[in-house]
Amino acid sequence: MPKVKKAIIPAAGLGTRFLPATKTVPKEMLTIVDAPIILYVVEEAVKAGIEDIVLIAGRGKHAIEDFFDTSYELEDKLAKDGKAKLLDRVSKIRDQANIISIRQKQAMGLGHAILCGLPIIGKEPFAVLLGDEITMEANGESNVTAQLVKSFEETSVSTISVMKVEDKDVSKYGIAEVEQTSPGFFKVTSLIEKPKPSETLSRWALPGRYVFDNTIMDILQKAKPTLNGEIQLTDSMKLLCQTQGLNAMTFTADRYDAGDKLGYLQANIELGLKNPELRDDLKNYLLGLVTRI
Ligand code: UTP
Repeated sequence: MPKVKKAIIPAAGLGTRFLPATKTVPKEMLTIVDAPIILYVVEEAVKAGIEDIVLIAGRGKHAIEDFFDTSYELEDKLAKDGKAKLLDRVSKIRDQANIISIRQKQAMGLGHAILCGLPIIGKEPFAVLLGDEITMEANGESNVTAQLVKSFEETSVSTISVMKVEDKDVSKYGIAEVEQTSPGFFKVTSLIEKPKPSETLSRWALPGRYVFDNTIMDILQKAKPTLNGEIQLTDSMKLLCQTQGLNAMTFTADRYDAGDKLGYLQANIELGLKNPELRDDLKNYLLGLVTRI
């Protein structure tokens, strides 16, 4: 049975939905409660048993690469500022996984970003976790990537996570057309990138977690730019579902699009409510606020 030990985290996008922040700081380095977005994503991969993590960083995104480097200056500063907890989280990641950084020289699309990871992935299967999406499983549950890895290791078929969205949100996502095979599990029959709600009957959206058989790399190598002049992962997944097959599964976890203004705020509030130091004060503040709005 194939084991999934490698992952790609694409984080080289331009982040146009968050432009004010990205002018100075890459959106993946924005803080949710007490850690940058990218740390939550890397932690999810490590908890799912991933050993080699390929960060795809782009122009102006040095801060992401630097964050995981051993840096005397950063560690000294974190220690002096009393941020030992954050330091512990970063050190734990460094002990448990290799973080490898690869530069995507031009933001030519998610498909292209994934292809940039080929020198490290080689011929192995791999997970993909979008660098601006956070998922948070309930205590004691396995996370979304771990759920996908388990399904892939049992079936040897590439598997992606899907979630139901409302009509108004269909055009924000890649949408999978599916046939249900068992509760929560589907065979993907087609995919369409950011369709109008009238262009598909499906409301199953892709929230940014995938596990692929290595065939996707062969397909991506031959892919041509399409929508917005970018190499779209969706096009290659569509070919995959017509050839090798592609499965989809729902997941049990909260999920936040932290690369979006509303999603960023929601992540801060909800993860803040889970933080023992903040929970009570934040809850009181929110309850008071509700009476005023
Ligand atoms: P998005 O669709 O969110 O694009 O990419 P974006 O450019 O980051 O953000 P907006 O929509 O313009 O605000 C999904 C993921 O794929 C990565 C992004 O960093 C994000 O994690 N990506 C996208 C790349 O790494 N390279 C690309 O060329 C495009």
